[in-house]
Amino acid sequence: MINTTAWNRIRYGLYAPVYDLVVERAFHDARRTALSQVAWQPGMRVLMVGAGTGLDLPWMPRDIELHATDLSPAMVRRLRQRAERLGRDVEARVMDAERLAYPDDHFDVVVMHLILAVMPEPARGLAEARRVLRQDGQLCVMDKFQSDEKPAGLARRGLNALTSAIATDITRQARPLLEAAGFAIEQDTPVMMGTLFRALLAHKA
Ligand SMILES: C[S@@+](CC[C@H](N)C(=O)[O-])C[C@H]1O[C@@H](n2cnc3c(N)ncnc32)[C@H](O)[C@@H]1O
Repeated sequence: MINTTAWNRIRYGLYAPVYDLVVERAFHDARRTALSQVAWQPGMRVLMVGAGTGLDLPWMPRDIELHATDLSPAMVRRLRQRAERLGRDVEARVMDAERLAYPDDHFDVVVMHLILAVMPEPARGLAEARRVLRQDGQLCVMDKFQSDEKPAGLARRGLNALTSAIATDITRQARPLLEAAGFAIEQDTPVMMGTLFRALLAHKA
């Protein structure tokens, strides 16, 4: 089954018109919890990677400098419309999370919500997030993960062939992924469907 960046660009372009209908309500509380784990300070420079239609915007503080990126132009268009409706100043750009067009050590916070389980190579996205984060920066992740203690079994890996092509990978393990990318996890909170969805706050190890 396919899970490539080119395919993700196509499918999220197709999903964009109905994305909010499917996702907005279900993830309210998970987003709020994930973003509440960040130690916010006025004036922080913040990057949302794979920001989609901008469903995180209502939970972001107003006194920050906000940048948003997504692979799909249709998603970025919707994010800009949401920002305008909410009266938020957001610099939104089409960009691949594997190649962020920002300098090293540039952001105080990088937010990656529901993207690490979507990217074919999440380690590449995390390497870029780490590069653009300041030394004392915070990485805010919310996603679905397989237990850290137990790799996915055969049945789950079989099902994953389908889910990763149309929606999301269901076999990724948060702690091994983040630690291999050079992050130390500060907070790890289950936010939805038992421990399937987790909100993690991490910093550079
Ligand atoms: C499940 S949606 C999550 C959107 C948003 N973060 C949210 O929480 O609602 C995944 C998003 O990641 C984007 N995406 C997938 N691969 C990407 C990549 N390589 N670079 C940037 N964005 C990507 C998709 O276009 C889509 O908008």
